[in-house]
Amino acid sequence: MESFIYDIPVKVYFGENQLSHLGKELSKFGKKVLMTYGGGSIKKIGLYDKVVEEIKKAGLELYELPGIEPNPRVESVRKGAQICKEKQIDVLLAVGGGSTIDCTKFIAAGAFVDFDPWDFFSKWAPIEKALPIVDILTLSATGSEMDSGGVISNPDTNDKIGRMEPILLPKVSFLDPTNTYTVSEYQTACGSADIFSHICEVYFDTSKNFFMLDTFMEGMLRTVIKYTPIAMSEPKNYEARANLMWTSSWAINGFINGGARNVWSCHPMEHELSAFYDITHGLGLAILTPRWLEFCLNDKTVDRYVRFGTEVFGIDKNLDKMDIAKRAIEATKDFFFNKLKLKSRLSEIGIDDKNFAIMAKKAVSGSALKGFVTLTADDVEKIYRMCL
Ligand code: NZQ
Ligand code: ZN
Repeated sequence: MESFIYDIPVKVYFGENQLSHLGKELSKFGKKVLMTYGGGSIKKIGLYDKVVEEIKKAGLELYELPGIEPNPRVESVRKGAQICKEKQIDVLLAVGGGSTIDCTKFIAAGAFVDFDPWDFFSKWAPIEKALPIVDILTLSATGSEMDSGGVISNPDTNDKIGRMEPILLPKVSFLDPTNTYTVSEYQTACGSADIFSHICEVYFDTSKNFFMLDTFMEGMLRTVIKYTPIAMSEPKNYEARANLMWTSSWAINGFINGGARNVWSCHPMEHELSAFYDITHGLGLAILTPRWLEFCLNDKTVDRYVRFGTEVFGIDKNLDKMDIAKRAIEATKDFFFNKLKLKSRLSEIGIDDKNFAIMAKKAVSGSALKGFVTLTADDVEKIYRMCL
């Protein structure tokens, strides 16, 4: 357990009928609002009309940037930053899933710079100022509603790169589980695979464990396991959607990091899959996570798997340690591939080994991923092959 700082200053309106607070919250930052959103789901579900009504009621000036892609592209960041500069926008309102919120974070920063926003990723250009961001979340998955990060793709270079900066944290997030009733069975499953992975990336850590946080993470993992199949079969089940939504935020808002020291492993590997093949992030994670767990299992790491298997999946504590660990990995596969009905192999989604070597090098940033188990480019390539 290492020393850490706790600082999560995002105001959250959780639950139904909270939108009446939207106008008041936006007005704190000024008059001109740029609303950003994706490919149209917010119009289909009637949320767009409700948001526009609240903005009008508050007497605010509304501008729009529609069409933000899943795996958002730098071109959308460029467009948004341009609008902010031209219209002198005061505050950004992201309405959608993680892609819309992520993209909006870098629009907020891009509004203050004269260079190409891709430099934030390719040259790690400084992010010193950002417009305030308010968001209305419509998909439980990434936790972007309560974290300071975002991931942007550049199809010209086959790059998908993430960056975290405290200044990009949303000021206010509206989390209404009913806004996720229309999320498809597939996206619900992918979102939950993402939440599950965010927790595993921290839970599987080599630092001395922190009992309070371990039990918190196990509770969140059990929540995802319990409620995702319910949300998939009963999309309008409030309890299921609410549990997934709040878990999404707490899985990655920094709270569970207290004392963890490793870098993440599955996410850098997955971002290469999305960068090269534009696949859904959660699907890539579902395919990778059990193979990564298999790869990392050894006499030194086994105890962590034992706790995972017994506390999360209820595997018999009296079995041999290695046996528990292997059963835990099988239970993880069963959750992703049977309960969540996700494809289990890269070959099933049209991915072959053609780009594995280059993807592996990029995933380890030319050196090694110092995660739960340190992974070299060769190791990452082996894990990709285990997923074929
Ligand atoms: O574009 P629209 O029309 O809105 O449709 C979206 C999109 O097609 C749809 N959708 C969203 N809410 C809906 C809905 N459809 C019906 N009803 C609703 N209520 O779902 C599709 C996927 O949306 P997207 O925003 O792409 O999904 P998600 O929230 O999973 O975001 C994925 C992106 O976030 C990044 C991923 O890499 C990926 O680019 N991540 C961001 C992180 C962060 N900020 O910390 C961490 C994550 O690990 C992740 O890397
Ligand atoms: Zn993720």
